[in-house]
Amino acid sequence: MELPNRSKLSKYWNLNPETVFLNHGSFGACPSSVLEYQNKLRIELESDPVHFFDITSKKLWAEAIKNFSKFINADKEGLIFVPNATSGVNTILRSLDLNLGDEILVLDHAYQACWNTVDFVTERSGAKTVIVPLPYPIESPEEVTQTILNYVTEKTKLALIDTVTSPTGIRLPFEQIVNELQSKDIDVLLDAAHGPGIVPLDLQKLKPAYATGNAHKWLCTPKGSAFLHVREDKRGQIRPLSISHGASVDGTKNERIRLEFDWTGTQDITPWLCIPKSIKYVGSLVDGGWEEIMEHNRNLALEARNIILEVLKTPKICPDSMIVGLSAVALPGEGVATKSVLEPDPLHTLLFEKYNIQVPVFSWPHHNRRYLRIASYLYNSLEEYSFLAEILKKEF
Ligand SMILES: Cc1ncc(COP(=O)(O)O)c(C=O)c1O
Repeated sequence: MELPNRSKLSKYWNLNPETVFLNHGSFGACPSSVLEYQNKLRIELESDPVHFFDITSKKLWAEAIKNFSKFINADKEGLIFVPNATSGVNTILRSLDLNLGDEILVLDHAYQACWNTVDFVTERSGAKTVIVPLPYPIESPEEVTQTILNYVTEKTKLALIDTVTSPTGIRLPFEQIVNELQSKDIDVLLDAAHGPGIVPLDLQKLKPAYATGNAHKWLCTPKGSAFLHVREDKRGQIRPLSISHGASVDGTKNERIRLEFDWTGTQDITPWLCIPKSIKYVGSLVDGGWEEIMEHNRNLALEARNIILEVLKTPKICPDSMIVGLSAVALPGEGVATKSVLEPDPLHTLLFEKYNIQVPVFSWPHHNRRYLRIASYLYNSLEEYSFLAEILKKEF
């Protein structure tokens, strides 16, 4: 079976030529040049680990913080590097002082690991997880905001809000949601796991109490590079998951952020140090930089969704205005195919094993439905989605 061609830009990635890779959403994909840069840093690190950690990395780290804070327009004093968005969400939720009866809002499209963390902290404190079921299909961004507001009570303390949802790839009106909730004194923990590089982020303008997100997805940095941003008034309260040396060093509120979070134990710090390289390198692959990349990926995702839906004939789960580089389509019928989120859906396995197509299929128990989620990145081509559609026609 002849596989479809990728786009011309795919030569800058190391993707396996024997697969149709339609899953940028899960872990991103790092271009060869960025990996080479990381390798150079690792070699330098191992040539004198002490010098690298004590001296060389300090300058690179400060540059990475400055460069990345500019990209998401964040106050750099509150910007922390974490290995992934899951750690970011855990750091915040596990630092909160919750009281009996406090409520935390979670959408029924939330990433399960983050949802589990909310459950963990509410269960241990006697607080309550309040699940907000979003409409199906979603008619408009305003409908989403209104639905969330309908679940607010005087006990609501915090809401976990995605920029783009995980199982369903929906770009939420997070700016509007943050503004509405925070105007009612409800803090937002913005889960921007699909954030930098897929939607424009302006944290100084938005001012969420907390925001976390990945660079290793849509900025294509090496795995293990993510951020956490804590708004100034919240900085005294948030502690890292690993308490380390900085905890016993005196400092102001802002200094404590650097002291406590910049060293949480020995680990490979090169993924974070590669952030400026990725922003510059991937951004240079098209003339219009990141704005054009986001627009390109969005247009491709919109076309891809239409191609797949022509075969599956299920309704669009949200309007086109809520699509960015990811898009999910519902599979026909009701029910899920797996018992746990850790088990791969059999359709995913079939598409991969029989046809070499790497595309996620989520059995989503909270909707009693299955979603196939396609991603669109610079290396993808329309041909690949048509290929998937042909296979789906055969298998359904
Ligand atoms: C909405 C959302 N939150 C959190 C995560 C977790 O990201 P990570 O595995 O990098 O922690 C993901 C991953 O896909 C996600 O989609």
